[in-house]
Amino acid sequence: METLDLSRLPKHIAIIMDGNGRWAKEQGQDRLFGHYHGVISVRKVVEAATELGIQYLTLYAFSTENWDRPEPEVTGLMTLFVETIAKEVPDLHNNNIKLAFIGNLEMLPNEAKLALANATEQTANNTGLTLIIALSYSGRWELIEATKKIAQKVSNAELSINEITGAVFSDNLASKGLPDPELMIRTSGEYRISNFLLYQLAYAELYFTDTRWPEFRKEHLEQALLEYQSRERRFGKTSDQINQL
Ligand code: FPP
Repeated sequence: METLDLSRLPKHIAIIMDGNGRWAKEQGQDRLFGHYHGVISVRKVVEAATELGIQYLTLYAFSTENWDRPEPEVTGLMTLFVETIAKEVPDLHNNNIKLAFIGNLEMLPNEAKLALANATEQTANNTGLTLIIALSYSGRWELIEATKKIAQKVSNAELSINEITGAVFSDNLASKGLPDPELMIRTSGEYRISNFLLYQLAYAELYFTDTRWPEFRKEHLEQALLEYQSRERRFGKTSDQINQL
């Protein structure tokens, strides 16, 4: 059996946790049952990422488009987020995990905003895994917000047009300060990016699996990492150039 090279792990893994609804239906249950089971997978994957020494893990929990789902599912998901965050923060904190949230958080109900602010504050000084939850997030929203911020700086004469570099652009994204993910995993057999980290995924290796999110476990993460390690990352260069480095 192949083994993971622990010296060549990605610093940052991003995951689109898809398939909760389909998995629940296959069990003859309603969609929220799938989301509750999805939380178990979140816990397992966070544990595995911590054990492996991954530095950043971003999970797509709720997209801007998800606000258009039926009201009971949206309300159920918000309750699940608030309950899970409140319940898990002590354990996350004890494991030195730092929590961060990206997205249009203004749209969240007050109770959720409060839970997020508390979790962020309580874990702010932790130095282990940074767990980033994308909530009410969309890549296009983030790009538009960054453009507005930069335009405002130009308009205030704090920045000139020639000074707008990739680094300046990154610094105006919600993910400011985080390295770009080297690996993006999507579960449940869909082959799309679905408005996730559009700028940051430019050079990410994309890994798709048919496994539904509620069934995703450490061994599935390891499988994705093995596949990642078998690929050659060239960043537009030739193989020879990469091998000379
Ligand atoms: C996508 O599956 C999943 C979601 C929209 C919600 C994901 C949320 C969780 C796993 C809970 C995580 C909780 C925290 C605190 C991070 P889907 O509903 O689109 O499934 P389908 O495509 O089969 O319908």
